[in-house]
Order: sequence, then C-alpha cells, then structure tokens
Amino acid sequence: MDKNEFLSKFDSLILNPVTRNIYGEDDFFNVGYWFSDTHNQQEACFNLMEKLLEFIPEKTGTILDVGCGLGATTSYLLKYYSPAEVLGINISSKQLERCRVNAPNCNFMEMDAVEMKFEDNKFDNIICVEAALYFDTREKFIKEAWRVLKPGGNLILADIISETTEDLGGLVVTQNIVKDFEAYKNLYQQQGFQQVELVKATEECWNKHYRHLKSWLQEQFKAGEIDEETYKFNVDAIDNLLKRALIDYALIAAKK
Ligand SMILES: C[S@@+](CC[C@H](N)C(=O)[O-])C[C@H]1O[C@@H](n2cnc3c(N)ncnc32)[C@H](O)[C@@H]1O
Repeated sequence: MDKNEFLSKFDSLILNPVTRNIYGEDDFFNVGYWFSDTHNQQEACFNLMEKLLEFIPEKTGTILDVGCGLGATTSYLLKYYSPAEVLGINISSKQLERCRVNAPNCNFMEMDAVEMKFEDNKFDNIICVEAALYFDTREKFIKEAWRVLKPGGNLILADIISETTEDLGGLVVTQNIVKDFEAYKNLYQQQGFQQVELVKATEECWNKHYRHLKSWLQEQFKAGEIDEETYKFNVDAIDNLLKRALIDYALIAAKK
C-alpha cells in the first residue's frame, strides 16, 4: 500500500461520521481504558491518557504527540503542559486541519514518525497513543524517538501487538508484526532504552471497548439510527475480533 492509499483509507475511517458519533465531541480515536464505572467512550479515552501520563511523575519540559489523530490527545496534554511545550505530528494533512481547531494554541507539523525532521536531543517526553502499529516500521520509530529525546527523556505509548495483519483494517504492514511481548520489549531494549515497562491491558482497553461498541450499536439499531444489515455486519465483525486471542493491547514506558 502506498502512502496516498494509506492516507485515504485512514482519513475516511477516522473522519467517518459514525466513528465521530462514537467518540463524541473530543475527537479521540483510540479504544480507551475502561474501569468498572466507566460509562462512555470519551471517559475511557480520558482514562487512557491518565494511565499513560502516570508513567511520567514529573510533568515538566516539552512533549511530542506522535500520530496525534484529530488533536484530542494533544489537547488533553494541556491539562499538565503549557501550549508552547506541546507539539503534535501526524502524517495526514487533512487530520492536522482538525487538530488546529481542536488545540488552537498547540503547534502541529506534518511528519512521518519514522523520519522525523527534528534535531537530536530535542524533547523531554514523547507520547504515542495507538499509532505505532501503523508505522513502517515501529522499530524505525523507536530509533527516531531515541534520537530526538533528550538523555533521561520519557517515551510512553499505548500500542497494539498483533501476530497478523488481519483484523486491523488492512492498514498494518507485515514488517511491523511482532511475535510476542518478549520480542516487543526487545525492540526498546536493543535501541538502548532503560527501565522498559510493559503493562498488558487487553481486557481493560481492547475487549471492553469492543463490548461497549456492541451495546452502542444495539442502541443505535433500536433507535432506528442504523439499519439491520449494518448492525449485523458490525456485530459479527466485533464477535470475530473478540474470539481471536491474537491481539494484545499494551501500555509501555521507557527512558533514554
Ligand atoms: C488510531 S489513530 C490515534 C490518534 C490519536 N493518538 C488518538 O488517540 O486519538 C493513529 C494516528 O496515527 C497517525 N499515523 C499513522 N501513521 C503515521 C506515521 N507514519 N507518522 C505519523 N503519524 C501516523 C494516523 O494518521 C492517526 O492520526
């Protein structure tokens, strides 16, 4: 798949009105983190940001949001960082237009995560929420993250580890597949990252998101918002996804 095909597929997915309806006004696009008392997708997306930011006890200096989507993750960072300290990058210029509306005081740049145009040792922190699975490759991104982070800087991610490219919307390249958690952790350690923490959160993130999505679809169907064919097609797809044990969701922290 070339870059234009990827962008066209991804932009239609993230900007699709049904997708946007699921996420509400904050424009996130990730599965979120679900506690037993989490009520909706927006709340789950806030929780995920909090879970990731817990990895950085002292929230000082600059932070780069890699694969910043429509700017919701970037905007959330303003809870802890001032706009001048926050920069978002995305490979999609179309999504960046929306970022600039959602987080008007932050800076955004069109850039590929595996080929960053920054000088060495620039950032204190890097966050990457559910984007690394789409890179060509994650390994190249980790190398770039190492280069642009200051010594002692933090890299934090929410990432999906899958043994196959199936079920991921045809948007993941084969060379980005990682065999298991051990191989995944090695990618960071081989680059030189220290204190690599890997927290498996498949149940709290992936499974609970899709269960919630099933109930949401059911409500939409009952309310006449979607037709039976769309409802059945999506519920079947989710059931298949939940049956497979090939996908793991992880929260990761590492230090340069
Ligand atoms: C699932 S979305 C997550 C968006 C956002 N972080 C969030 O959680 O709401 C993945 C994002 O990664 C971006 N992306 C994919 N490949 C990229 C690359 N090579 N370089 C930079 N961004 C990329 C996509 O355009 C999309 O915005």
